[in-house]
Amino acid sequence: MGKGLELVEPVATMRGKESRVAELAVVVPTFNERDNVPEVVNRLENCLRGEAWEVIFVDDDSTDGTAACIREIARQNPRVRCLQRIGRRGLSSACIEGMLASSSPYLAVMDGDCQHDETMLPRMLGLLKGGDADVVVGSRYTDGGGVGSWDMSRARMSRLATRVSRAVIKHDLSDPMSGFFALRREVLELSVRNLSGIGFKILLDVIASSPTPPRVKEIPYEFRTRYAGESKLDSQAMWGYLMLLADKFTGGVVPARFIAFALVGGLGVFVHFAVLTALFQAMSLSFVVGQAGAAAAAMVSNFTLNNALTYRDMRLKGWRWLKGLASFTLTCSLGALANVGVASYLFKQHTLWEVSALAGIAVGAVWNYGMTATYTWKKYSRKSDS
Ligand code: GDD
Ligand code: MN
Repeated sequence: MGKGLELVEPVATMRGKESRVAELAVVVPTFNERDNVPEVVNRLENCLRGEAWEVIFVDDDSTDGTAACIREIARQNPRVRCLQRIGRRGLSSACIEGMLASSSPYLAVMDGDCQHDETMLPRMLGLLKGGDADVVVGSRYTDGGGVGSWDMSRARMSRLATRVSRAVIKHDLSDPMSGFFALRREVLELSVRNLSGIGFKILLDVIASSPTPPRVKEIPYEFRTRYAGESKLDSQAMWGYLMLLADKFTGGVVPARFIAFALVGGLGVFVHFAVLTALFQAMSLSFVVGQAGAAAAAMVSNFTLNNALTYRDMRLKGWRWLKGLASFTLTCSLGALANVGVASYLFKQHTLWEVSALAGIAVGAVWNYGMTATYTWKKYSRKSDS
């Protein structure tokens, strides 16, 4: 099967019953899941027999040939589609774009590693079609559900994150962090412009972004172990979660990236003082040398942290990292000039010195954020990272 680019008869459009447009679209985000993709398709074929469905894999330019593998299957099976994104990363945003790429009235989101129990899908669809629920969530924490062979610390982390989520959604869900759910298309359409699209927690995002609370039903399932490959959820996922919460808290008025950028900037002040103390006090170098060294260290550390956290989804690597550092340093130097300029102007106008200083800092921070977002990260983010 699948040699070269032979054209395959598009079954879905040619044969009687199967020409129904997909009623259910299953969106599967993938990043390096090549060995899982055929298994996911097989399992969907088995459990959705008789339903009109399609599956849309949203692949963030995996390095293991996942997209090629999906397309090879898609050439034989018109229910399968591949949406490949270049230069971007992120589970939530992948799910959003996958759902938007479908016209189906019912949408489901499921991981591409067989950890979610696909045999729940017909029931989820049935509940949505029955009209009693707008969202059906596969839950690990209601009676009958479970987290399989998770270790203690992972299970504890998950429960803590669940508790914190109550701050942004009113629903009393047992598993708001679930990555396995189905919804009516209208729910997506009403919330899509408010979605943050940050991090891993797409269900939480959808519910928190809905203008009116959707009716949610939970059904239990047992979280399985991975079929192949390894988890992509690392320590950074925690940061992504915090950013999502911050974005929802501020109602999206202050961009989450700006909050992250400001936090990193605040940390930079500590770095500055630590290095200054070391050079000026401990090593008895001149104040000017100490201050210059401290400013340089703070800029490198701010750049590194912003690159790893604030702009994790478009992280710069290799020579792009160096170029990024150069443009970051240049921009922040200009930001410092703006800061001092505004502060001294206000001070001369007899503004309180504290207020003048804060205004200078605010102007500098907004300048640094806006300019580095445009010139340091956006410009070089075309090529995908890993
Ligand atoms: N397109 C895309 N882009 N897909 C991604 C990305 C990304 O940046 N990161 C991860 N994925 C895909 C993986 O390939 C996999 O199919 C799915 O998203 C889930 O990733 P895992 O790495 O397997 O996550 P997990 O098993 O540790 O966590 C899952 O379970 C949690 C609890 O239900 C996820 O579903 C979490 O969202 C969920 O909270
Ligand atoms: Mn997984």
